[in-house]
Amino acid sequence: MTVSSPSQASNMTPESPELQKRDPASAQRAGKLVVLTGASGGIGLLVARRLLADGYRVIALCRSKPALESPDLVHVACDLGNEGSLAEAAHHLRREETVLHALIHCAGTITPSPVAEAQDDDLTAQIALNLTAPILLTRHLLPLLTSRGDGARGHIVFVNSMAAVMPLAGSAVYAASKAGLRSFALSLAQELRRSCITVSTVFPGAVQTDMLIREMQQGGSMLNYVSTPLDPDRVARSVAAQLRRPHAEIYLPAMDGIFGRLCMLAPCLLRLTLPVLGAAGRRGYRKAMAKISRTGDDRAV
Ligand SMILES: NC(=O)c1ccc[n+]([C@@H]2O[C@H](COP(=O)([O-])OP(=O)(O)OC[C@H]3O[C@@H](n4cnc5c(N)ncnc54)[C@H](OP(=O)(O)O)[C@@H]3O)[C@@H](O)[C@H]2O)c1
Repeated sequence: MTVSSPSQASNMTPESPELQKRDPASAQRAGKLVVLTGASGGIGLLVARRLLADGYRVIALCRSKPALESPDLVHVACDLGNEGSLAEAAHHLRREETVLHALIHCAGTITPSPVAEAQDDDLTAQIALNLTAPILLTRHLLPLLTSRGDGARGHIVFVNSMAAVMPLAGSAVYAASKAGLRSFALSLAQELRRSCITVSTVFPGAVQTDMLIREMQQGGSMLNYVSTPLDPDRVARSVAAQLRRPHAEIYLPAMDGIFGRLCMLAPCLLRLTLPVLGAAGRRGYRKAMAKISRTGDDRAV
């Protein structure tokens, strides 16, 4: 495990003039510590940027160093898909007697493939990163959230996916891992009901990041294009907002979330709704591809 942090980080206190220059609300948040997984990726990097701008200090748990220079960002290199690496990083944070304000789970992965053709390693890697890692990390770091003793609320935020409430043929294990994560978050919220910790989940539909580009190159679902893929900054804004105004569940776009949950009230109706959604998705995908060939910008997917 490697821990890298700019040398000034340890000198940064809530009273630092640099932090006091920020707006008053920011100054109140100054010095509060957030552990963020997936901080080097499309959504996570933007969440990290927002948190830093809001005056938080961020510990980034991911394999590669986030492309962000800030004295308030510490990178703890960690392979969350490896239980040993995860336990070592968590042990490091606990040994430091870190007091946490929030834990945000954003790391995730998808490897589309019909189950019959999938490789065992790809299936277990998706479950390890999307489901096992957030469960283990929550358990390891919960004492750092509960031991704050300042009476203020602490937060756990999960970045999930619309796939948690909508079956995704060709990505069944991804969908199952995200559905399991939803169930974990709702159960955890019940357990922590009487504590000062809130539990929130953000469920985005498709988002314009490298993950979506890779997914579509590997034969991802056309359902990703039923709505126009989201701007990752919109998702990041919603994730960061959970530390100020927590909600148990936020779906982006909201209408897609309502539709997905209605479908799951009577899954037998999926045989009627999915062909319609599939056709809309194929239309949306063709439009996105046409835009790429016009603009040459593959971020347009
Ligand atoms: N993009 C979408 O269309 C979409 C839609 C719905 C939900 N989501 C969810 O949003 C979250 C973020 O997605 P994204 O689009 O930002 O993905 P991304 O750009 O591919 O970034 C993924 C992040 O996860 C980290 N990660 C991957 N494998 C890891 C491992 N073994 N150990 C530690 N960290 C690992 C990566 O960091 P390193 O590689 O540096 O380790 C990176 O920071 C995921 O949970 C995803 O399921 C995405």
